[in-house]
Amino acid sequence: MDKIRIQGGRPLAGSVKIGGAKNAALPLLTASLLTEETLRLGNVPRLADIETLCALLGQHGVRIENVEPTGEGALGGRTVLLTAGEISNFQAPYDLVRKMRASVLVLGPLLARFGEADVSLPGGCAIGPRPVNLHIDALRRLGAEIAIEGGYIRARAPQGLKGAEIHFPIVSVGATENLLMAASLADGETVLENAAREPEITDLAQCLVAMGAEIEGIGGDRLVVTGKPRLSGASYDVMADRIETGTYAIAAAITGGELELLGARGDYVESLIEVLNAAGVPVETTARGLKVKRNGGIRGVDVMTQPFPGFPTDMQAQIMSLMTTASGAAMITETIFENRFMHVPELARMGANITVHGASALVRGVPRLKGAPVMATDLRASVSLVLAGLAAEGETVVSRVYHLDRGYERIEEKLAACGAVIERAKD
Ligand code: EPZ
Repeated sequence: MDKIRIQGGRPLAGSVKIGGAKNAALPLLTASLLTEETLRLGNVPRLADIETLCALLGQHGVRIENVEPTGEGALGGRTVLLTAGEISNFQAPYDLVRKMRASVLVLGPLLARFGEADVSLPGGCAIGPRPVNLHIDALRRLGAEIAIEGGYIRARAPQGLKGAEIHFPIVSVGATENLLMAASLADGETVLENAAREPEITDLAQCLVAMGAEIEGIGGDRLVVTGKPRLSGASYDVMADRIETGTYAIAAAITGGELELLGARGDYVESLIEVLNAAGVPVETTARGLKVKRNGGIRGVDVMTQPFPGFPTDMQAQIMSLMTTASGAAMITETIFENRFMHVPELARMGANITVHGASALVRGVPRLKGAPVMATDLRASVSLVLAGLAAEGETVVSRVYHLDRGYERIEEKLAACGAVIERAKD
């Protein structure tokens, strides 16, 4: 298993190209199941999770062709062509769904187009129990017959799905995505109330519209979908990754450096910019993206995670790393997932002073972190340790790098190009 070795304490300077968003690309790839025509997705990041989902789509029978960019665009994402002409298998097996929960996003499209899907229940995961009851309840409202048998969601809709009014009791990104896709091929109108408003949902909705879907209210929490008998192929580019954007913004802030984030969009990360500004880190819009530069010390700022446009749970671990060396204290409250503080004991091994009380972590700033061997059990917790390592005095070795490879493309290369002393090492 690979490790990342970092010699910390160097301010980063330069520019980082922000890739296509993992959490937008995953639902967009599954949207290919909605049509027999080819869906062409550009700016798809090279990440382990994308490979896992392509493997799943491949075993359903989707033909997948990767086109690598050449020349100028060589560092950009690749283009993936997906053709779900003939689907040979309607089962998403436990092995793949357990490995990556976003696999459950094949449920809505398979059911809507073919009237049949058997998708493994994902089970628990490192950041909490993460049930899929909202996906199931909402698909039932569209007329699906769903049974849970042998650990599988067995969903059938032999007469097709029928539009309905759905009010989500809590905001769910995945359930909104599954239902948007299913409703696009349902008979009649579906209203999704209390829908998630994350930019990744907007990206999916815009791609569905390009495929011929009719969706009103895009970007809001009430989406009205008028189902179509069929959708067509389309060509669509995946949005820039707002969590990768935020992670590199904090890399600049935590090292006291200056980074330009190429292709980053300020409107995707407003809640983070507000926190960074309050912490004493200005963020400027440039012609090519965003520029983040720290001038003085970091001030402690309280942060609470919320659905978009609130502060993202996927940035909670990284902002906590930044707050470990702030002047004063910061209260960080996680409201989305039950168990998303796995980075806390690891940051403590680097000298951070953090006390967890239920869903809140009180971070009291220390003058400096010290390098240490650390590891984490999920993607964002792992990257928060890389960030801490960049700022810490001495050497930090982050194990279980496969978590990072799920969501950060060539992270050590991108950081090294900006002056970080960082390398990947084999065990
Ligand atoms: C998406 O997960 C993201 N994943 C997550 O990113 C992100 O943390 C999360 O949204 C919240 O923003 C992808 O987009 C692939 P939810 P998702 O359904 O859709 C509860 C990362 O690091 N819930 O919005 O699974 C759930 O337990 C990842 O890239 C139910 O109770 O999240 C959670 O508490 C990790 N029943 C809350 O809702 C359900 O049926 C929000 O989850 C569904 C969800």
